[in-house]
Amino acid sequence: MAGRAGAAAGDQLVSGVHAGGGPAAAADRAGTGTRPGIPGLTLTRADFETAYENVRPHVYRTPLLTSRSLSEACGLEVRLKAELFQRGGSYKVRGPLNKIARLSDEERARGVICSSAGNHAQGVAIAARHYGVKAVVCMAENATPAKVAATKGYGARVVLHGNIWDEANEKALELVETEGYTYVHPFDDPDLIAGQGTLGLEIIDQFPEVELVIVPIGGGGLISGISMAVKSISPDVRIIGVESSGAPAMKRSVEAGSRVTLDRVDCVIDGLVVKRVGGNTCSVVSRFVDEIVTLPDEQIFDAMLWLMTRAKLVTEGAAASPVGALLRGLVDAPAGTKTVCVLSGGNLDVEQLRGLSWN
Ligand SMILES: Cc1ncc(COP(=O)(O)O)c(C=O)c1O
Repeated sequence: MAGRAGAAAGDQLVSGVHAGGGPAAAADRAGTGTRPGIPGLTLTRADFETAYENVRPHVYRTPLLTSRSLSEACGLEVRLKAELFQRGGSYKVRGPLNKIARLSDEERARGVICSSAGNHAQGVAIAARHYGVKAVVCMAENATPAKVAATKGYGARVVLHGNIWDEANEKALELVETEGYTYVHPFDDPDLIAGQGTLGLEIIDQFPEVELVIVPIGGGGLISGISMAVKSISPDVRIIGVESSGAPAMKRSVEAGSRVTLDRVDCVIDGLVVKRVGGNTCSVVSRFVDEIVTLPDEQIFDAMLWLMTRAKLVTEGAAASPVGALLRGLVDAPAGTKTVCVLSGGNLDVEQLRGLSWN
């Protein structure tokens, strides 16, 4: 399991071993994610601190909340990194802020492009606007009008194409070829991973005694950044990832020792539905993440309701999954372990609640 390699990898980080000649050079080779990734991609503490200089001026330092009821429910000392209060409603603005900061003037002049129906679209749009860079977002034609409107509201041009993300993504890659845009991958780009990892720096700064961090996994960009950033400072902190049991692409890949493509997924949670993880994220998670646990969507929905009821927090499904893992007893840790759950976003389509009875 991944955990056995974790400590050694942390040592490597601290000694500053850095495969691939820096995030920018690495991005040139892995930018589209269609290539296999960089064997042994390892970002150093210096990489994350540099990324934070690019990210910090444009993001909120989101609060680390205590939760007595959750701590009592699971017997650990739990805090919640409330990234649902981030600009754009999720952590997804951090990576693009670092990615675009590191582009050349010429690349910026050509504009950036991504494909996403959700948080990545908004993150790229917000970041591009900060740098005065043109942004294009490809979405499937059935994207919810609210998400299209939000993305346009941040100044991006939206191109609707195809019925599913893969088709929208093909359109984005076609526009990279024909129009020269720079592609911003949703999870596998080293500069993006460095930006997402700035959340890990904040956790260590806000809670230096932390012993365990629990992070949702979709394509693996968030946990790659957080695990390397946290272990670059505190190598003994355990990192646990959470996937939907209906889409366990990372767990299967780590177990198999190389990326697997799931034949089918049985998961409706935006952010957790991925059939194939990234080459870089698979490599990083194999070395820096100690364990991956899975639970079905219904149990994640229970955690969302629990968070609304007990903590008065509205999270989206992906963001509630670490709390779900705790409530379901999937995390094995000594009583009182100082634990952080990453509540990665709050972009829930609350329109779905209309029509229910209220009291
Ligand atoms: C709110 C939220 N949490 C977690 C994730 C998973 O992140 P990653 O794909 O980097 O693993 C996503 C991805 O879209 C997300 O939107």
